[in-house]
Amino acid sequence: MNDRLALLTAYPFERLARLKAGQVPPAGLPHIAMSIGEPRHAPPNFVLDALRQNLGKLDSYPATAGLPETRAACAAWLERRFGVRVAADTMVLPVNGTREALFSFVQAVVSTAGTAAKPVVAMPNPFYQIYEGAALLAGAEPYFINTTAAQRFQPDLDAVPVEIWKRCQVLFLCSPGNPTGAVLSLDFLRHALALAERHDFVIAADECYAELYRDESSPPPSLLQAALAAGHDHLQRCVVFHSLSKRSSVPGLRSGFVAGDPAIIKSYLLYRTYHGCAMPVPTQLASIAAWNDDTHAAANRALYREKFARVLPILAPVLDVAEPDGGFYLWPDVQRDDEEFTRGLFAQQNLTILPGSYLARDTASGNPGRRRERISLVASVDECVTAAQRIRTFLETH
Ligand SMILES: Cc1ncc(COP(=O)(O)O)c(C=O)c1O
Repeated sequence: MNDRLALLTAYPFERLARLKAGQVPPAGLPHIAMSIGEPRHAPPNFVLDALRQNLGKLDSYPATAGLPETRAACAAWLERRFGVRVAADTMVLPVNGTREALFSFVQAVVSTAGTAAKPVVAMPNPFYQIYEGAALLAGAEPYFINTTAAQRFQPDLDAVPVEIWKRCQVLFLCSPGNPTGAVLSLDFLRHALALAERHDFVIAADECYAELYRDESSPPPSLLQAALAAGHDHLQRCVVFHSLSKRSSVPGLRSGFVAGDPAIIKSYLLYRTYHGCAMPVPTQLASIAAWNDDTHAAANRALYREKFARVLPILAPVLDVAEPDGGFYLWPDVQRDDEEFTRGLFAQQNLTILPGSYLARDTASGNPGRRRERISLVASVDECVTAAQRIRTFLETH
């Protein structure tokens, strides 16, 4: 077997299952799961209809590059959403969800040839777990940049030693962030781009929560906007990752796309051709329908906004919790051990949340997830309200 597999850490949900093992929650309370980041809103009917109507198209192999119409729909959405124009034929590629793309992208980009020291893949800490696994399996060294409340959950790029930047080949950014919900500003993104230019690395911007934000008047910007504003007409060193999973509540469709630097996209397409991960044509046609419609995405966003509006007043008196700028997570400081908190809440309230330390790694300045919890507001409004009341009861009785 590939000896790098031994470097992978247990996925947070495996650790969570071990943490809960042996606990017996009250039988009278139905279980509520707020641990998984899986959207639960009803998928839009017109997307499901498009999928059903095109099932006959399973009779042919899809092209890895996707249908020109799929790429055009993604490019049109980028223009509507961010005001960014990209060439659909050279700068966009459909992917089967961003998870596989974030992973395979690193395998395609990282080069271990000709360097005495290991290449570095830098990422925020806490982070979406795929970044680390992708780095390790590509033979790179993950470097964790802590995001703390003191820094408004922005990765402190200036704290990264120059020797690390010199070895860096990929920098992951995530905005809005999972789990923090923090949005990276255009200024921040331009600063990251300047570093990428100086030290010649690629920025992989995970923007899969870009459509879930609180303030309708200031949607989160994209790395592509920052690149164009900096005069990088060919989006040099930039690749962004977008997904329908959160935007359209279709996590099972497995549909997203990458867009950016055409030189990188060209090599990544070559990699994907051998990897064999083309998107089925019915999925592409359903995806076109989803990317072409913004109304359902706005309705989806409004539903998350309602949940934050209902849940926060219940929790605020007992918990240090803030409304995030984007995403669908709360990331409170629970001011006690996060594993104990999770286990106690499950045992007494039959409610599962995720210990923050499982999403972050230990660094010289500590584990930035410690004493925090990730609480996903993915269930129905009523269930989220019930869950918030249970957390409050738990805290008031402890
Ligand atoms: C930050 C982040 N990136 C990527 C993904 C993967 O999403 P998908 O593969 O459904 O596009 C997730 C899913 O939870 C996520 O939280």
